[in-house]
Amino acid sequence: MNRKPFSIAIDGPAGAGKSTVAKAVATELSAMYLDTGAMYRAFGLYMLRRGANKDKSAIIAAVDDVDITVEFIDGAQHIFLGGEDVTQAIREPEVSMAASDVSAVPEVRERMVALQRKIAEGHDVIMDGRDIGTKVLPNATLKIYLTASVEERARRRCLELAQKGNPEPYEKVLEDMKARDYQDTHRAASPLRPADDAVTVDTTNNTLEESVAEIRRLALEAIDRR
Ligand code: DC
Repeated sequence: MNRKPFSIAIDGPAGAGKSTVAKAVATELSAMYLDTGAMYRAFGLYMLRRGANKDKSAIIAAVDDVDITVEFIDGAQHIFLGGEDVTQAIREPEVSMAASDVSAVPEVRERMVALQRKIAEGHDVIMDGRDIGTKVLPNATLKIYLTASVEERARRRCLELAQKGNPEPYEKVLEDMKARDYQDTHRAASPLRPADDAVTVDTTNNTLEESVAEIRRLALEAIDRR
């Protein structure tokens, strides 16, 4: 039987657990998972390599040239920049701020949003980012705003970096996170904020399993209600 695909938007600040939770729930619901932050990160990496991530006119000039593609290899999202697989490279800490820098430019957002909608078209999808519920998927089946205290988010990010063999001091991670939160919530173009019809889930005191269970429950209820 033909049915309309469902879409789940998960927005929130860095380190709230969006990608881990979205990935787990997408697997359980056999849906596509799209990490939209990876696309801004690839753009940020492109500008960072040119030493121009703070240069608004250079960023606008790059919008039509930069070649960003997304592929799913064995179910995992890979991101390519001019044919180079940059899936690992975009996770370097300095790329986080460069991604936030380029994401404030409306021309960049316009191109990324169009690409995101095109990739998701016709699929059951869970997308995470900053503007999914407010801009990319305004009619999403379910909108979640996933958050946690900035101290807890910095603690989780520290743990993740240490596990990757790339440890950073807690104070630095906390300061970087606060700076990025500020930039992402104060930009003029699609700032990070909960959509009016989003359900806010605070994961500060949750284990990962608890957060996954809560989002799964909300997703199944919303899909049932359609
Ligand atoms: O989710 P992330 O940390 O990988 O995202 C990196 C940056 O990209 C984030 O600081 C803001 C930007 N971003 C955005 O503006 N809109 C999105 N949908 C996703 C990310």
